[in-house]
Amino acid sequence: MTTYRGAFHFSAPRGWLNDPNGLSWFNGRAHLFYQHNPHDSVWGSMHWGHAVTQDLLTWTHLPPALAPDQTYDADGCFSGGAADAGDGRHVLMYTGHLDPEPGNEARRFETQCLAFGDGRTYQKAAGNPVIDGRHLPPGASRGDFRDPKLWREGGVWYCLAANRAADGNGQLLLFASEDLTAWRYVGTPMASGGRLGGMWECPDLSRVGGQDLLIWSVMDEPAREGAYQNVASVVASAGRLERATGVFTAGPVHELDYGPDFYAPQTLTHPDGRVLLIAWMQMWKRSNPTHALGLGWSGQMTLPRELSVRGGRVLQTPVRELAGRRGAEVRARLNLGAETSVPGVEGQHLDLELAVTRLDRAAFTLRCFVGPQQETLLTYDPVSRWMTLDRRRSGLPLVSLAPSHPEAEVYRARVEAPGGRLHLRIVLDRSSLEVFAQGGSTVMTATVYPDDASRGVRFGSTAPGPRLQLSAWPL
Ligand code: FRU
Repeated sequence: MTTYRGAFHFSAPRGWLNDPNGLSWFNGRAHLFYQHNPHDSVWGSMHWGHAVTQDLLTWTHLPPALAPDQTYDADGCFSGGAADAGDGRHVLMYTGHLDPEPGNEARRFETQCLAFGDGRTYQKAAGNPVIDGRHLPPGASRGDFRDPKLWREGGVWYCLAANRAADGNGQLLLFASEDLTAWRYVGTPMASGGRLGGMWECPDLSRVGGQDLLIWSVMDEPAREGAYQNVASVVASAGRLERATGVFTAGPVHELDYGPDFYAPQTLTHPDGRVLLIAWMQMWKRSNPTHALGLGWSGQMTLPRELSVRGGRVLQTPVRELAGRRGAEVRARLNLGAETSVPGVEGQHLDLELAVTRLDRAAFTLRCFVGPQQETLLTYDPVSRWMTLDRRRSGLPLVSLAPSHPEAEVYRARVEAPGGRLHLRIVLDRSSLEVFAQGGSTVMTATVYPDDASRGVRFGSTAPGPRLQLSAWPL
């Protein structure tokens, strides 16, 4: 029976996976922790799963690093960050979640807690929690206060966490400490004020090209065509965070990914200077095929992506190590028109690079995971400037369980194609595709569940005119 697992996308050996946690470099390896239920392929009993890698593509699974076994985290070790403590230890900062009566928000408490370890086993700090209700500014919620990002700069530790403000909407709070133990509230770099969704989650801060890149997750922003199509979305803004006051001078805020399956990303600054991003490649409030089929696992991470910022906008490209997995290249040049395949270009694990030119009036179409009854369809219409990803015929059905955001199959993103040129990089890995358009300035990520036999790739345009230059590699 097919397992639908990706060959080079991270998934847990068994059980449920959601957010990446504690993405950090320690003792010569990248550490990825993740929200994990080891007991079942549904959310529950949040542990921190753990894996390490050197090449960013092949992972060694380690035992879970954290389990919910203390009075302050009994209902879950929620998301958070990690860093090299600088004294030989790896430090994790996570949210202790207490929710004894789900639904009764008055009894929910979230606090920030520490654990120290050697890269394999971790001990929770005796002084936990280190940040709790007493550290919060007036009006801040004690029940929605989670997902600390931890980093150190100039001898000072910083923690950036998500919180619910008195108006019921999300805000990000900055705390500082000299010793990881005694923390003080510094300021509120960003607040929704009802202008961008409700509660916020999973903030991340990195330095990219001399700017502070703030990335965070936004719940319940109303859907509109080509934007915020999921019940929860991810946005980014390159700007400047004033460390002393917590004031963030924001650049344009934009969505990071326009597809159905992308949430709660974290960044990692690689020792070679690259800033890499990994997100949970799934979405809340969705049907869950691998669980429904009893396959024993649920949830994957995106490929690690390299980030840069141009003109205030984040660019994402697959981590360059992926090129090391490529098999023999197939190249082709086509005058597009009627649908066609290219000999040697097929399969469920592919790296495709496409340069489409002369996009004037006719729309470009790419079908992948094509089988007798199945296809995943990507189109670009130069007149409307919509790139559309359509998984209505991709395989196992995916439905939204969120009435406010009913779409789960057809996704759009606005893409400019100046001079009639469109560049696409597309990575297929059995049950996912990641589409990077125009150098990664617009990205769409989707999971799909085609049959094993759905291996075809077809190229076309709605009328003659466009040309395609293609490079394809099996992965
Ligand atoms: C985001 C999130 C976090 C929380 C975690 C719980 O997907 O809701 O805010 O810490 O998942 O698993």
